[in-house]
This record gives sequence, C-alpha cells and structure tokens, in this order.
Amino acid sequence: MAFPNIVASWYTTFSLMLLATATSFSPAATRACSALKHSFPTKTFSPKDDDYTLAYNHSWSKTCVLPPTCVFEPTTAQDVSTALKIVEKFAAHFAVRSGGHMPVPGAASIQDGVLISLSKIDQVDLNPDGTATIGTGLRWFEVYEELSKQGLAVAGGRFGDVGVGGLLLGGGVSHFGPQYGWSANCVTRYEIVLAGGRVLDVTKESSPDLFWALKGGLNNYGIVTRFTLKTFPLTDVYGGAVIYDPSRFDDFVKAVAFYSTPEGGMSDSLSAIEPVMAFVPSSGLIQGGTFLFHQGSDAAPSSLANFTAIPANQSDASVRSYPSFVNDTLTPEFNSYASRQLYFTVSLKACPQSVFLVNNTFAPMAFSSALLKKVSGFTTTINHQPMPLSWIEAAQAAGGDTLDLDPAAGPFIIVGISSFWDNAEDDDAVFSFHKVATKAIVTAAEKEGLNYPFLYVNDADPVQKPFQFYGKGKSLPKMRTIAKKYDPAGVFHTLQHGIWSLF
Ligand SMILES: Cc1cc2nc3c(=O)[nH]c(=O)nc-3n(C[C@H](O)[C@H](O)[C@H](O)COP(=O)(O)OP(=O)(O)OC[C@H]3O[C@@H](n4cnc5c(N)ncnc54)[C@H](O)[C@@H]3O)c2cc1C
Ligand SMILES: *[C@@H]1O[C@H](CO)[C@@H](O)[C@H](O)[C@H]1NC(C)=O
Ligand SMILES: *[C@@H]1O[C@H](CO)[C@@H](O)[C@H](O)[C@H]1NC(C)=O
Ligand SMILES: *[C@@H]1O[C@H](CO)[C@@H](O)[C@H](O)[C@H]1NC(C)=O
Ligand SMILES: *[C@@H]1O[C@H](CO)[C@@H](O)[C@H](O)[C@H]1NC(C)=O
Ligand SMILES: *[C@@H]1O[C@H](CO)[C@@H](O)[C@H](O)[C@H]1NC(C)=O
Repeated sequence: MAFPNIVASWYTTFSLMLLATATSFSPAATRACSALKHSFPTKTFSPKDDDYTLAYNHSWSKTCVLPPTCVFEPTTAQDVSTALKIVEKFAAHFAVRSGGHMPVPGAASIQDGVLISLSKIDQVDLNPDGTATIGTGLRWFEVYEELSKQGLAVAGGRFGDVGVGGLLLGGGVSHFGPQYGWSANCVTRYEIVLAGGRVLDVTKESSPDLFWALKGGLNNYGIVTRFTLKTFPLTDVYGGAVIYDPSRFDDFVKAVAFYSTPEGGMSDSLSAIEPVMAFVPSSGLIQGGTFLFHQGSDAAPSSLANFTAIPANQSDASVRSYPSFVNDTLTPEFNSYASRQLYFTVSLKACPQSVFLVNNTFAPMAFSSALLKKVSGFTTTINHQPMPLSWIEAAQAAGGDTLDLDPAAGPFIIVGISSFWDNAEDDDAVFSFHKVATKAIVTAAEKEGLNYPFLYVNDADPVQKPFQFYGKGKSLPKMRTIAKKYDPAGVFHTLQHGIWSLF
C-alpha cells in the first residue's frame, strides 16, 4: 500500500524514539554477539559502537524500533551462513530484516537478540537469459532505477522505499500483477541460507517443494540473500499521485467502487490504482487520494477515466518513465519514519457494494470513538487493492504459490486498514480499534455474501493468522512439512521470533 503525500502532512507532532536506556541482554545473545564481533569486527554493531543506533533504527514504523543486543550486517551469503552457525551454537534469538517496512514489532526487529540486517546485500545483476538477480537488501526504487537503464523492469513493489526481501517472500502486489500474478510468481531462483548454514540455490527443478514454499512463506524456511526474477521491457507509463478535496470524497469512493467491479477499470490489465480513504477522528476530516497507473504512453487511459473526471486538488499524473513515477512515493514527509503504524487486512468479493460496505461500516466506527479523537497524530485509512481474475490465473500459470488463489472463487479486493499515530501510550487503543473494526467489516460482508476468506500476509497483523486461509486451508500442512524437511531442528521457529511461525 502507499499513501498520497498529503497524508503525511497531517502529522502535527512527532514522537520521540522510545529507546530502552539500560537494557540487559540474555547471556546467549551476548555470547553470540561477541563471537560475531570477533569474526566480523566491521560488520557487527553493539551498543558501544557509533553506528549501532543507525544500524537498527531504520524501521518504517516506530513500533518496530527495538534495540537489539547487536546488529550484524552481512554482505554475502557466506557471511550469513557463518552468522547463522554462530547464532545456533549459542542458541541466541534473532530477527531478519531487509527493508524494515513491515509494521509488525518483532517481525524484523528484536529487543534481546541478534538483528541480521541484510541491507548491504544490494547488487542488481542482469543475466544472459534476461532474468535479473537482485540482492534482498535493495529497495524497489533502486531496482527500477538500475533496470530502466536497460529499458527493463520487474514486477516489484509499488512503494519505492519498500524492501525486496519481505515483499517477495510474502507474495508481492505490483503494478503488473494483472499480467504476472504476485511478484513472487516472477522469481525463478532463490539463493537461501538454511538452518545449519548450508547455502542452497533453489529452482523449480532443484527443489520444487521449497521453491513453492518460498512463494508466500515469509521467513519460515531460511534467510534468502538473492532473488532471480523475470524481467520485461518497459519504457513509458502513465502515472502519478492524485489528491481530491474532501468535498469530492463521495465521487472518489464511487470511482473506486466502479473500478473494482469485474467489468470495471480492473478488467484493464495494464492499469492499477492505489486508493486511500483517510479518516481523521480528531478533526472529522475525510479525504481521498490515489496513485493512478497505466502501462504505456496513453495519456488518458479509459480505465482510469472515472478518477480523472473528478477535479483534483493536486495531480501530477503524466506519461513518464517508471522510476520517475515510483519516485512520487519517496517524499520526505511520507518517508519520515516518524510515526507508529498498524496494518490489518480483510478481503471482499469484487463489486461496488463491497467498497460501499467497507466505507459505511468503517467510517462511523472511526468517528464514534471518543478515545480515538484523543490519540495524538491519529489518522486511519482504508486501502483497496482490486485483484482481477487475470492475476489469479497468471499466478497459477506461473507454477503456483502457497497463497494458492482459486480462479473459480472469482476476482476480489484486498482491503487494507492502516493507521498511524504518535505515541506508545495509544498503541492499545489503536490495536483494539483495528480488531473491532475488522471484525465488523467481516461480519457485515458475511451477511451480504461478500466476504472472501483470504488474508494477504504482507498487509496482515499476526493475530489474523493469514496462513490458515492459503489454498483454502490446504497450503499450511504442506508448508509445515517442508519447513520440517529443510529445518529439522526448527531454528526458524524457535530461535527466530515466532511472529509469522507456521507452527
Ligand atoms: C508504505 C508501505 C507500502 C507498501 N507497499 C506494498 C506494495 O506495493 N505491495 C506489497 O505487496 N506490499 C506492500 N507493502 C507491504 C510490504 O510488502 C511488507 O511490509 C514487506 O514484508 C516489506 O518488505 P521489507 O523487506 O521491507 O520488510 P522487513 O520488515 O524487512 O521484513 C518483513 C518480513 O520478511 C522477513 N524477511 C525479509 N527479508 C527476508 C529474507 N531475505 N529472508 C528471510 N526473511 C526475510 C522478515 O523477517 C520479516 O518477517 C507495503 C508496506 C508499507 C509499509
Ligand atoms: C532514527 O531515525 C529517525 C527517523 O529516520 C531519525 O530522525 C533519528 O535521527 C534516527 N536516530 C539515530 C540515532 O540515528
Ligand atoms: C462513506 O462514508 C462517509 C462517512 O460515513 C459518508 O459521509 C459517505 O457518504 C460515504 N460514501 C459513500 C459513497 O458511501
Ligand atoms: C465508471 O463509472 C460508471 C458508473 O458511474 C461505471 O458504469 C463504469 O463501469 C465505470 N468505468 C470504469 C472504467 O471503471
Ligand atoms: C481544492 O480545490 C477546490 C476547488 O476545486 C478548492 O475550493 C479547495 O479549497 C481546495 N482544497 C484544498 C485543500 O486545497
Ligand atoms: C528517483 O529518486 C532517486 C533517489 O532520490 C534518484 O537517485 C533518482 O535519480 C530518481 N529517479 C528519477 C527518474 O527521478
């Protein structure tokens, strides 16, 4: 998901970082960190090192800025292998981070243990067969910038600052999904470090089970250092950020609703929207905005006409290069890394009624709570991601994945609920609101026959247990069997934080 710039400008106050000043670390983590420091003096950062804070600080949500015992920054798969052996030897807890965008505390951050930060594995290599091998530590705008020099692109993240690793291991919603399926469906090879430190190249031929499991299974199988992806030629796109005046909110909701019907704009597999409906309880403000995208040099794509017909307060939609369009998401206000963030998700069948149902269920709940009105810097948003049939079919045609969507169940919409706010003291209030609001949407959708039982892990909160819905319940047992085969000691489910554990 991504949000228009204006959302960021609503912040009035910024929270101070909550740093534990006198954290005591467990003996296991302390020993592992000493051993890492010994083997990798320039790649290990402990509290007494200058760059320690800098090394762990870079989490997109402030809820995830946790001080680890040390940060280890490998540059190669061999480094990761050695580090994993050390971590296992001392039975230290660890967390793995690529871009640090997942707003789930402990998913890619750790309070007492080793943070393995992969940001220095950052090469893009073009292969003779037309694929690109991409380091997990890159951010998508860097990948696009590099590939565009050759007139190429990959189906990666829409928001330029998001990391390569988490997005590809969780699935991946790209602007090109209607043509290629999940971003993960474009991966042809993984370089992974397994428990025990073995470095393995995983392809469909070499390890079909693990190849499948890595498409959606997040951090349950090992530490992926590099991904090889299919590329495609890409020159011009039409795109930009569009913000509407609050008085246009209903027109905007209707445009999203009609786009999100199977015969609507979503049937154009060259187009994409990233609509954000923002609600500010303290002021009563409701506002909409979206990124508009269409592949090619058509400056007035008909699939987006319902959006461009609404007078916008701000729009820079135009024909330009893909990196230039993606750079719209890199504004300093939005990328301030200054707020606390929480994501939940639900899915509904694709039709206008679903969009209206979400708006009409969610908005009154956001505004009726006296508690939320007092939460400093609080904005809550609804984001719609229409998922056309062509996407689901492309995913299957590419060989499938753990998410395993069923074309017979029809097109649907991934709905993201995300909030941002300033202070830790309000974390519980926001979490409760998300739980209650999500439940209300699901209940209302079930009543109308509009619920679609699928939760996209990269937009979900761990309490939602997204894996249990994959493949209508058939994926999870297989995912567990494969995890036991490649990690018999359960390193990735015991020593790694259990946030997304399959067990
Ligand atoms: C502003 C914003 C915009 C977004 N836009 C999109 C979008 O357009 N499309 C989309 O699909 N999603 C989007 N997301 C969701 C995003 O895909 C997930 O948050 C994703 O997990 C982030 O990847 P990362 O590498 O930055 O995450 P991190 O926070 O570093 O990692 C996320 C999880 O993946 C694991 N992990 C990361 N790298 C590895 C690795 N190499 N090996 C093993 N485990 C690993 C971590 O341990 C952690 O559990 C967005 C999120 C935000 C906050
Ligand atoms: C941590 O990150 C925030 C946001 O990017 C920044 O303002 C702050 O200065 C950083 N702190 C340190 C110690 O690097
Ligand atoms: C969406 O919800 C808001 C707030 O309740 C309401 O004012 C608006 O009319 C709704 N819009 C549509 C199109 O349902
Ligand atoms: C635009 O909106 C109308 C309803 O006002 C709808 O019938 C039409 O399908 C929409 N077009 C697209 C491309 O979404
Ligand atoms: C948006 O544009 C309208 C005119 O189309 C104007 O009345 C309104 O003040 C503008 N709103 C903002 C927030 O700039
Ligand atoms: C996109 O932003 C990056 C980082 O600021 C910059 O290096 C790059 O030149 C920009 N690319 C385009 C096409 O604007």
